[in-house]
Amino acid sequence: MYHNPVLLKQSVDDLVTNPDGIYVDCTFGGGGHSREILNRLSEKGKLFSFDQDLDALKNTIDDPRFTLVNQNFRFLENSMLMYGVSQVDGVLADLGVSSHQFDEAERGFSTRNNAPLDMRMNVMQNLDAKRVINEYEETELADIFYHYGELREARKLARDIVHHRKTKTITTTEDLKKLFSYLPPHKVNKFYAQLFQAIRIEVNQELEALKEMLVQSLNILKPGGRLVVISYHSLEDRLVKRFLKNGMFEGEQQRDIYGNYKKVFELLKSKAIIPDDKEIEENSRARSAKMRTGIKV
Ligand SMILES: C[S@@+](CC[C@H](N)C(=O)[O-])C[C@H]1O[C@@H](n2cnc3c(N)ncnc32)[C@H](O)[C@@H]1O
Repeated sequence: MYHNPVLLKQSVDDLVTNPDGIYVDCTFGGGGHSREILNRLSEKGKLFSFDQDLDALKNTIDDPRFTLVNQNFRFLENSMLMYGVSQVDGVLADLGVSSHQFDEAERGFSTRNNAPLDMRMNVMQNLDAKRVINEYEETELADIFYHYGELREARKLARDIVHHRKTKTITTTEDLKKLFSYLPPHKVNKFYAQLFQAIRIEVNQELEALKEMLVQSLNILKPGGRLVVISYHSLEDRLVKRFLKNGMFEGEQQRDIYGNYKKVFELLKSKAIIPDDKEIEENSRARSAKMRTGIKV
């Protein structure tokens, strides 16, 4: 299977309120969420789905109401304008990488396989993991490991990498992992997961793309339209949570001229929705999922 969709019913229940409406799925992947959205739409409804990975295009859906856009969702607003759409009823984003991307060993996302250092969701872009590891300054690497991997020993890791690459280019995931073979076995798996997450976030500029997409979603949503985001780590969820609360990513919440807090979204539920035990048992990728839904004010 290309990808087993997470929180499928809950997310589409939250998203679709107008069967005749126009909806966007920012992260098509295997098309699980998109198919379910189409099931809820009438003949008049429309769905535009985005994915930057060429592999995802193979899963396209033959349906006159459906358009698959091979584009980064950071260009959401302009891309929709190209289709003559300036307002939509709902936007869904199921963030991160698909199971397919993880399972295709040669793409370098997985810590389990030896593969070229790649990790690009969009194979047409220039920046890949090899360039990050071999060309970034030591301080840049340390920042990435610290902020995106939440690795406390970030500076030492960056130093080890820079020291090693002076004599030999680091070209595979195994080359990279070998540099840290001194770690105790019980710490290794979590460490590699955090290290790979950090590199992947940088390669795909995931947090920048998420921020741009959230801001543009707000621009194109109709009042009453819904933004549903499923995230898989705390860095993403923090941005989503703050944006739904404030319409901002940092700083003080803004007030109107009467001193009341300005709201851009009403939260459908105050707490994030997480998958139940049954879903997690059946689909381990659901383990870290958190879903938040905002209704545009
Ligand atoms: C978790 S999967 C989505 C799975 C999908 N909901 C399903 O049911 O199969 C995330 C997908 O979003 C795509 N993606 C991630 N970030 C993207 C971005 N900035 N722009 C476009 N596509 C992106 C990935 O290529 C991947 O296929």
